[in-house]
Amino acid sequence: MRHVISVHDLSVEQIKDVLDRAEGMLPIARGEAVNDCLRGKVLGSIFFEPSTRTRLSFETAMNRLGGGVIGFAGTEATSVVKGETLADTIRMVSGYADAVVLRHPREGAAKLATEFSGVPILNAGDGAGQHPTQTLLDLFTIRQEMGRLEGLNISLVGDLRYGRTVHSLAFALSKFGNTINLVSPEGLEMPGEVVEHLEASGQFGTACHTPEKVIANTDILYVTRIQKERFPDPVEYEKVAGKYRIDPELVSKGPDSMIVMHPLPRINEIVPEVDVMPQAKYFTQAFNGVPVRMALLSMVIGGA
Ligand code: NCD
Repeated sequence: MRHVISVHDLSVEQIKDVLDRAEGMLPIARGEAVNDCLRGKVLGSIFFEPSTRTRLSFETAMNRLGGGVIGFAGTEATSVVKGETLADTIRMVSGYADAVVLRHPREGAAKLATEFSGVPILNAGDGAGQHPTQTLLDLFTIRQEMGRLEGLNISLVGDLRYGRTVHSLAFALSKFGNTINLVSPEGLEMPGEVVEHLEASGQFGTACHTPEKVIANTDILYVTRIQKERFPDPVEYEKVAGKYRIDPELVSKGPDSMIVMHPLPRINEIVPEVDVMPQAKYFTQAFNGVPVRMALLSMVIGGA
């Protein structure tokens, strides 16, 4: 495995391999065992957009495997404000590090970065494009909680237009054979490319505007935030902000075995009362970023 740019580049076998390795990493991620397979290696962590979980879990993963991290979170203190291009930043960081994890507001930025990098690039989110490492931890959580990755009814809820996590996840789930429901406010529907792919592979369920319509038939309720920063017009954001409110009453209408996931951050789309319900898995999901990214780094940098 070299660059990790899009879920399209990952085969079912590769995905399973990452998840199996991530399972083996759990004791190290929890601090119960020690492994320094990346000792002496350096990860370049360059984030042009805000991040909490993705950046911190990548850095934790690198530290727990004995490696080091360089990088920046926000460009204020870097030469980017002087006008340095992404190409030059990547050329330079790839000379300092053994792999580069990149988050950037522009769709296609990670792919572009591969042209200028001498080391593997890991896409940590490119605008409204994809977020493949998030998808791997989502799949890890689904397998952990449901025991399988196929034959599930997954309802993706929220900003399906600008949300990169749901783009990657829909493509990845379709590799396994599932039914995918799309629930979004008007104007924030899933891009045609994703819908056509789901239809062509016979995995398109229902598209609607309210989660009530699909909840009774949902194994996984995957909720997302409205991506405020991607709206060209703030007035349009205000129209849809707070549209969905997942509360205990709605969650109880799902099957007993249903789980609720969210890539986080959540704004107000899941009320805090849901957090204590057994269905709520979003904090477990956030923790799973560590073992999954440990597995990825050990494969990409360590050659495991
Ligand atoms: C997501 C992202 O950045 O795309 N966050 C994350 O990485 N867990 C989701 C979001 O910002 O809404």
